Amino acid sequence: MQDTQLSIWTRAGGDAVKMGALYVTDIDARFSYTSEYPDYALPGLSLVYAPDLFRDSTIVHHLSGSLHPRFRALIPPADEQNFQRKLMLAFLREKGIEPASPFDADLALLAHTGHGGIGHVDVFADDASAEAWYANTDSGPLVPIGEQFGFSLKDMISWLDADARFILESLGPTPSVGGAIPKLLVAIPEDGWDGRISLPNKTRSTRIDVVLKIERTQAYPGLAALEAMALDLHQEAGFSVPRYWHAEVGGLPALAVERFDRDPRCVPVPLESLYAILAAGAKDIVRHTDGTLDRIAKVIDLAEPLLVNDRKAARVHLYKRVLLALLTGNGDLHLENLSLIGVAGEAQFSPVYDPTPMRAYSMHNMLCAVPFGGYGEDAGEGDALLHACANFAASLSLAKSDVEDIVSELLALTKNYPERVDAIDSLPGENKARLIEIHRDIHQRLTALI
Ligand SMILES: Nc1ncnc2c1ncn2[C@@H]1O[C@H](COP(=O)(O)OP(=O)(O)OP(=O)(O)O)[C@@H](O)[C@H]1O
Ligand SMILES: [Mg+2]
Repeated sequence: MQDTQLSIWTRAGGDAVKMGALYVTDIDARFSYTSEYPDYALPGLSLVYAPDLFRDSTIVHHLSGSLHPRFRALIPPADEQNFQRKLMLAFLREKGIEPASPFDADLALLAHTGHGGIGHVDVFADDASAEAWYANTDSGPLVPIGEQFGFSLKDMISWLDADARFILESLGPTPSVGGAIPKLLVAIPEDGWDGRISLPNKTRSTRIDVVLKIERTQAYPGLAALEAMALDLHQEAGFSVPRYWHAEVGGLPALAVERFDRDPRCVPVPLESLYAILAAGAKDIVRHTDGTLDRIAKVIDLAEPLLVNDRKAARVHLYKRVLLALLTGNGDLHLENLSLIGVAGEAQFSPVYDPTPMRAYSMHNMLCAVPFGGYGEDAGEGDALLHACANFAASLSLAKSDVEDIVSELLALTKNYPERVDAIDSLPGENKARLIEIHRDIHQRLTALI
């Protein structure tokens, strides 16, 4: 392959400024801050790449055909079934760009669609493209999504093989987020979902930026309603949870979730997954299901650079999220479903996203996507889950009384979980029964912790 250079910018300080350059060769990927960037005191590429610490050096990712985890987060994964990736590659084909390999496709996607996505890092082919993109702040009119997309989108999502041109003609290239579920970053009217969408905001606007998650009804019937119920439950548990609206796209149920990675002036707020943070420093973390949740404690406790200020709050947050994930049958709390928001030194866990009880679906029915507390490692006496919960509390330096408080609160909160699941009309009976059984089992076992 030929070496590729990409230009990295950010609007995190309000105005668009160049942050640095990414240089990709056939043996590594190299990121350097511009000589001025550390003086701006703006957030760096990653929480662990403080601009001041890398003033005179280059951050090298020593793996051929791969990029720093932070950049990978901006590219839809190379999976044949990935809706966003297919959409963006169709967009590139329209522009006459036909990448020769999956990695070339990654680079082309990063250059052409790696900006305006989640968080504060924007990638462009060159500085002129960046300047042109920031200069155009028009998000276009609000368009009724149903009429424009109609049956073609429904077809595309159900079978994932339709031509993406329909969506491109109506929307233009929308920035993308990672993940398996079809989703679009769009803006909706200030009063909430009414069936109309526009491109995301680039400046302060009355429109609300949302992640629009569309249900693949064939594979996951009832998913949107389940996610909504789980968001409500997390709010009741005291977590910060974004506003959301039930929506419908081309006859498919959808959820429009307000984005929390923009402040009220529409300035991007840094948001970084624990996957990106851990993978930046650990060679054994390659996928978002690698490692253990216990290793997040090391991120919370990191002193140089200091990331999280309120460590106790972060430890309690994580423990509570994991226990609520167990009790609700989430099963999908992997390192990309947990993120820190804010700048180094003041970062904290982000509001909750993606808490959907995926164990309702047989192909996702596992206790937890990432192990914790040495679960299943030693076949000692008693319930392995209880041992894991106790070990995990120890990893997070939580006292027995902290654990008892959290467990009591969550057991009480989820007492009526079976009724809540049962009330979801769009969820088939067998999925309800599976989820309720899983919940009852965990609920009963966790009572031993108090
Ligand atoms: N409300 C939000 N505000 C800002 N960013 C968000 C929001 N919701 C999701 N994200 C970002 O978008 C990414 C994908 O969203 P989400 O996890 O909800 O989708 P998903 O398709 O279910 O992902 P997966 O199936 O891979 O877990 C998240 O990892 C997060 O970085
Ligand atoms: Mg997710």
